[in-house]
Amino acid sequence: MPSSVLNDAFFTSFERSALSLDRAETLPAACYTDADFYAFEKSALFDQEWLCVGREDWVKDPGDYFTTKIVGEPIVVARARDGVVRAMSAVCQHRAMLVAEGKGNTRGFVCPYHHWVYGLDGRLVNAPAMERTCDFDKASVRLPPLKVERWLGFLFINFDPEARPLTPRLKTVADAIAGYDLEHAESASVMTGQFAWNWKVMFENNNDGYHASKLHQGPLHDFVPSELASFPDADPNDAGFLRFNATLHPDASFNPTQRAVLPVFPKLTAVDRGRMTFANVPPTLSLVLTSDLVIYLILRATGPETMEQDTGILVAPGAQDDPSFPHRFEMLMTSAGKIIAQDMHVDALVQEGLRSRFAPRGRYSWQEGAQGQFNQWLVPRYLAAWRRINPEASVSPAAAAE
Ligand code: FES
Ligand SMILES: [Fe+2]
Repeated sequence: MPSSVLNDAFFTSFERSALSLDRAETLPAACYTDADFYAFEKSALFDQEWLCVGREDWVKDPGDYFTTKIVGEPIVVARARDGVVRAMSAVCQHRAMLVAEGKGNTRGFVCPYHHWVYGLDGRLVNAPAMERTCDFDKASVRLPPLKVERWLGFLFINFDPEARPLTPRLKTVADAIAGYDLEHAESASVMTGQFAWNWKVMFENNNDGYHASKLHQGPLHDFVPSELASFPDADPNDAGFLRFNATLHPDASFNPTQRAVLPVFPKLTAVDRGRMTFANVPPTLSLVLTSDLVIYLILRATGPETMEQDTGILVAPGAQDDPSFPHRFEMLMTSAGKIIAQDMHVDALVQEGLRSRFAPRGRYSWQEGAQGQFNQWLVPRYLAAWRRINPEASVSPAAAAE
C-alpha cells in the first residue's frame, strides 16, 4: 500500500471538483486531514499566494509592531520611522530565537537571547562581542524581508519574492464592495481563536449560503434566505470571488431587530443595502459585509487538522463615538455568537466526518455556488503544483492551466 495519498490518480480525481457546479463533486476528504497533503498544500498555496496578516491600523504609528505565525513561520510586521510598513521573519539570524512576541511599540527588536539588536526595518544594528568572529559582516545580516501589499486597509505578505501584485487581480471584488470604503472603516474588535479543523472547512462554512436557512433557521437569520443567494462569475485570473445574498428587507443585520443598529456605512448604494455580500481572498481572508457591520476572518492554517483565526469587526467611521455604541455592539455580538456557535459545532463534526472511511465525494446544490468558486480557485493551483513537483504527472494540462 502506498504510504502517501499523493499520487497521479489522486490529483487526476481533482478535476471532478472543478467541473461546473451541477456536475462537480467535493474534494477528496484527504485534502482536509492528511499530513502529506498539508505539506504539499504549503508549497502549492501558502508559498505562492498573498496571505493576509492583519489590518494596517494595527501598526498606526512609527514603532508599532505585531507578530503572527502562518504555516509555522513566525512573522513580525512593523511600521518604521520612515512610515513604511514592513513584514519580515521574526527568526533571529544568530541562533533562531524569535526576536518579538505579541504586539507593541518599540525602537527596534532586541533578541532576548544574546541581545542582537535589529532596527524596525529588520537590519542588524548591534551584535555584542562579535568583534573576534572572522568575516562577520554585521551590515549583511537582516531579518529576512517579505513582500507586503495593502488592500482596502488589509496587509498581505508573500513568501514568493516574484509574486505578481494582488490588487490588480482583486478589481472585481474591490468594485463590488467599494461602498463599504473598508480602507477607512474602523476596527471595533478582534478576537483570536484556535480551532481543531482544517482551514478549508472554515473557509467553506463561511461561504456556504445553502445552510443559512437550515442550520441557522430562526429569527436571527431568516431574513437572509438561502434561495436569494447568487454567485457572480469570477475570472480565472481573479485572486478572489464574491457571493451575494439578497435580504428580505434593506439594512438587514444579525440581531433581534433584524435591522441595522449601528450607523450604516455612509457610501453604500440601495443595491448594497438590499443584500449581504461575502468577499473572499483565499487562502486567508473572508469578509461578511452587512449594512452596519463588516466581519473579517483572517484564517491561518497551523496543521492538517488545525487552524488559528482572527475574527475582527469593522464599523463605519465615527460609529464608536455614540455613547450607546457599547450596548448596541454587545447586542450584535450576542446574536452573532449564537450563529457562530452553530457553525463551530458543524465545523468540528464535519472534520470528524472527513476522517471517516465513509467520507463522501459529495454533490452540490445550486445554493453552494461559492464552494464551486473555491474549487475553481484551488484545483488549478493544486494541479499546477503537482506538475511542478512531478513533471511526468498525467493530470491534464487543461485542468492544471485552467
Ligand atoms: S539567538 Fe538572537 S541573539 Fe542569539
Ligand atoms: Fe453559518
